[in-house]
Amino acid sequence: MQFRILSLALIGAAQAHSAPTFTKDVLPILRKNCQECHRPGEIGPMPLLTYEQTRPWAAAIKGSVAQRKMPPWFADPHYGRFSNDRSLSQRDIDTIVAWVNAGAPKGNPNDAPPAITFTEGWGIPQPDVVFQLPKPYAIPAKGTIEYLHWVVPTNFKTDKWVQFAEARPTDRAHVHHIIAFVREPGSNWLKDAKPGIPFIPEKPKDPNANISDLPSDFLVGYAPGQPPERFEPGQAKLVKAGSDIILQVHYTTDGRPSKDQTRVGLVFAKEPPPNRAMTLSATNGTFKIPAGDPNYLVESEFTLGTDVILHGLHPHMHARGKDFLYRVRYPDGRTETLLSVPNYSFAWQLWYNLEKPIALPKGTKILCTAHFDNSVNN
Ligand code: HEC
Repeated sequence: MQFRILSLALIGAAQAHSAPTFTKDVLPILRKNCQECHRPGEIGPMPLLTYEQTRPWAAAIKGSVAQRKMPPWFADPHYGRFSNDRSLSQRDIDTIVAWVNAGAPKGNPNDAPPAITFTEGWGIPQPDVVFQLPKPYAIPAKGTIEYLHWVVPTNFKTDKWVQFAEARPTDRAHVHHIIAFVREPGSNWLKDAKPGIPFIPEKPKDPNANISDLPSDFLVGYAPGQPPERFEPGQAKLVKAGSDIILQVHYTTDGRPSKDQTRVGLVFAKEPPPNRAMTLSATNGTFKIPAGDPNYLVESEFTLGTDVILHGLHPHMHARGKDFLYRVRYPDGRTETLLSVPNYSFAWQLWYNLEKPIALPKGTKILCTAHFDNSVNN
């Protein structure tokens, strides 16, 4: 009898002792999975760099990680493996939950791992060149603003290979998205736009248009949650000498006037890489969703005209998107599911980078299936 009580007491003591602490167990998880956004100047609403900053949020952190709301990641784990998979392991979730349940203790400061160094103002290494809107754009307080396009000449005298690229607003609150396109010399795309003056194209680009009437390549985009463009050694994007960068910015209004001077930073590859990276898009921009339909199906497909190594996927739908499925059909008829996003969130524009790039031979079809909810639920 005495023996049993003694052993119970011992177990109790051992458990209390092994409760996770902030410095030893939780901080490494925050460094790896949260601080890229939860640091000053980034999109997370509060910094989570120190114990003092994190402690008041302990209960909210427990809830958001246990429900897998944070970090934002929406891919169904049954399909595909992604190198930028942000989801926490069950073990990390359990550690955070146990830490909060134990009263969120700080622990020994000497247990803290070394701090990560971030580039101030960028999520990429220090850019070699920065292109910015020539002057701040005055965002009105009210109304709908069309997608604005600015032509920014690169003045590159030689071809450049881009290893890292990042687009950033200076006023995140009013920028829904940015796309930086490359326009090579000789392209007729937006030929009436003048450098320095925001331009609104007359009509949306016709997907069947002549190739010289379309952007030459997509360089990098910005939307909340979208990571900068980072290429592995041996791959880079080509920006030919004399190209322009076209910045497309979508501003939203919220009753307060503001200013934004969006910019793009580029880091060049040390040497020309063996592989040129390009971004392709399978778009279906012509559908109309019947009013009130809670589960409207939209499909788009894209047949590859050349052999391609597929590195990543980016489902993009507007506010009424519900779910998204990417499949491929190989020329031999085999199909494969690459990505399933069962709960698409308009607030987050995520990219899914494949852990193992897939070789897609010429003639492969990329099939995208999406459902939209146009009912009152949405
Ligand atoms: C890609 C950027 C990003 C990452 C990575 C990220 N967060 Fe967030 N987090 C946000 C943004 C933006 C919000 C506010 C919008 C929202 O709640 O969706 C937010 C909100 C939160 C909130 C809710 C705050 C509130 O007002 O209640 C908590 C808690 C939180 N994050 C914790 C975490 C933790 C813990 C991690 C890492 C395990 C993490 N986040 C990773 C961007 C991020």
